[in-house]
Amino acid sequence: MNIVLLGAPGAGKGTQGQKLVEDCGFAHISTGDLLRAAVKAGSELGVKAKSYMESGQLVPDQLVIDMVKERLDSDDANKGFILDGFPRNTAQAVALDSELADMGRDLDAALLVSVPDEAVVARLSSRRTCKSCGYTAPAGTDTCPRCEGEMYQRDDDKAETIQHRLDTYHTQTAPLIEYYKGHSILKEVDGNRPVDEVYADVKDLLNL
Ligand code: AP5
Repeated sequence: MNIVLLGAPGAGKGTQGQKLVEDCGFAHISTGDLLRAAVKAGSELGVKAKSYMESGQLVPDQLVIDMVKERLDSDDANKGFILDGFPRNTAQAVALDSELADMGRDLDAALLVSVPDEAVVARLSSRRTCKSCGYTAPAGTDTCPRCEGEMYQRDDDKAETIQHRLDTYHTQTAPLIEYYKGHSILKEVDGNRPVDEVYADVKDLLNL
């Protein structure tokens, strides 16, 4: 299956994506994780992306589109993928459709994880992320349960940046809900419930 995960920052896209990957073996393509790795490595892409990410703005489309195209060409994406954090606006969605058409592939579902803004702010303020593998967990988790790496607070999970990210989501990404409704592949799950309850519905919605 080829799936796009939609939702506000902190809605739980990464959390649900990680579970789908563990259960189904799909490739997990998180543009946020790829960009953070590029920043950490100090690559040309990372240097260009850093300031946008720190201020909660979208990184320029072409940089992200090229990065995703390269990742979709990898062998592990052939058995199905979960795109987490991409597309983020209509231009990226159109570029994705065109790339998949060139590859003779298609999207099976765009899964919207819905969570109210207030819950998102609370989650992101207390989120910790693994420095090594990107696993996320609430504050209080000092060692990664998956790889024993060190947990830290992302720069963009500081209060002043969270509101910018939410504004960016509502103005630029939320219109994709209508876009995928128009393609008849939108599915929506109430993400404001315990992780396992959300995941049970995710599997039902995706017929997994
Ligand atoms: P990115 O890394 O994609 O961040 P995001 O979309 O803002 O999403 P998050 O990773 O913050 O949240 P999530 O929905 O995955 O939630 P999570 O599962 O971690 O992007 C970062 C930046 O990179 C962007 O701002 C932009 O600059 C750039 N970028 C990325 N992609 C781009 C693109 N395509 N174009 C341009 N720029 C791009 O959960 C959050 C917390 O809540 C965790 O602590 C988790 O444990 C907890 N939680 C999860 N589910 C539940 C639940 N059901 N109940 C209680 N707690 C929960």
